[in-house]
Amino acid sequence: MHSKTLEQLLVDKIAVSGSIPFSEFMENCLYHPQFGYYSSGRKVVGRDGDFYTSVSTGELFGRLLADGFYQVWEQLGKPERWQIVEQGANRGDLASDVLARLRELDEQAWQAVEYVMVEPFPALRKLQRETLTAKGLADQLRQVSSLAELPEKSVRGVFFSNELPDAFPVRCVKFFDGEWHEMRVVRDANRQVFDWREVPCDEELLALIAEFDIPALEGYCAEVSPLTARWMGEVASRLAAGLMVTVDYGGLREELYTAERNAGTLRAYRRHHQESDVLASPGEQDLTAHVNFSQLITNGERHGLRMREYTDQHHYLVGLGQLRFFREMEQAANDEPALMTRLLRQYKTLMHPVMMGVQFKVLVLETDWD
Ligand SMILES: C[S@@+](CC[C@H](N)C(=O)[O-])C[C@H]1O[C@@H](n2cnc3c(N)ncnc32)[C@H](O)[C@@H]1O
Repeated sequence: MHSKTLEQLLVDKIAVSGSIPFSEFMENCLYHPQFGYYSSGRKVVGRDGDFYTSVSTGELFGRLLADGFYQVWEQLGKPERWQIVEQGANRGDLASDVLARLRELDEQAWQAVEYVMVEPFPALRKLQRETLTAKGLADQLRQVSSLAELPEKSVRGVFFSNELPDAFPVRCVKFFDGEWHEMRVVRDANRQVFDWREVPCDEELLALIAEFDIPALEGYCAEVSPLTARWMGEVASRLAAGLMVTVDYGGLREELYTAERNAGTLRAYRRHHQESDVLASPGEQDLTAHVNFSQLITNGERHGLRMREYTDQHHYLVGLGQLRFFREMEQAANDEPALMTRLLRQYKTLMHPVMMGVQFKVLVLETDWD
């Protein structure tokens, strides 16, 4: 009944103009206030969900990140107030790991930090508060429903996201018969399914295709994300001083839009398996597309940020591990072998090239510091 209702809603939307962009379909599937895959707040990440993330592997990801965030606080001159802003925090597990680590590291940094979650969905806001309350960490929490609630230049610290822009609604394009087309979603009334229809691209799409030089090869399919450019602008304008750290899968334009990858990167996931039809079961499967990191970099730079680092998760976490983690593990080998075993297992999952180490990329952009 759940999905039937969303399905009907999409059918009604399509009936108005005959077709909708895939981005509108995806937006409703993931974020419809009542029926959306994410907005409903049901458990979708982790063993009993549909997919794993670095956060769901355990506390180590947050611990390592916290060591890096702590350095930002130091670089800012240890201010009495600083912010870690996380967008797409889901149930608040990363915040819990980061805050617990900061408390362990330095009482002063921990007292000074304000952990801001940007969360539009009431069901998730409630879960986030519960997660932090259970650990005695909720005093540090502030929740806002959108970036618009944060004044410009109000963030001194870090703006962080893990697997956020891959969940932004994308538009789909295909090159054939000598021109670019948009793949829009229609309803096949006979078969009672959603289907695709190609129409010539509008100016916004053509501009993005040209900006990232997507190969005009017969049959080539790709996704583009108008929302990502706007989002970068919003984030950049809120950062007064510090870093923007974005972890996600994807690549630079030359890694993403290669001639070989001619079927795009749009995928649907359910119960830890890739599903074959992204138009099936609206609201019941995750929809995602690889992130175009070149778009993040260009738009960040357009809004005054500077590129500091672009690497894979493996190299980024090795760098963070050198701050404290490796030394602590040596000590744990004697004092707390059970802890060491647990953290090493997580370390392997996060770092191993065939697990999460290479597929995930980390982009760090920075402001001026004074
Ligand atoms: C793939 S999940 C990642 C969750 C979590 N960061 C993790 O790593 O386990 C993507 C998350 O981004 C959130 N999201 C998508 N668009 C958002 C937006 N505009 N503002 C805040 N959260 C958003 C979704 O609700 C979802 O919780």
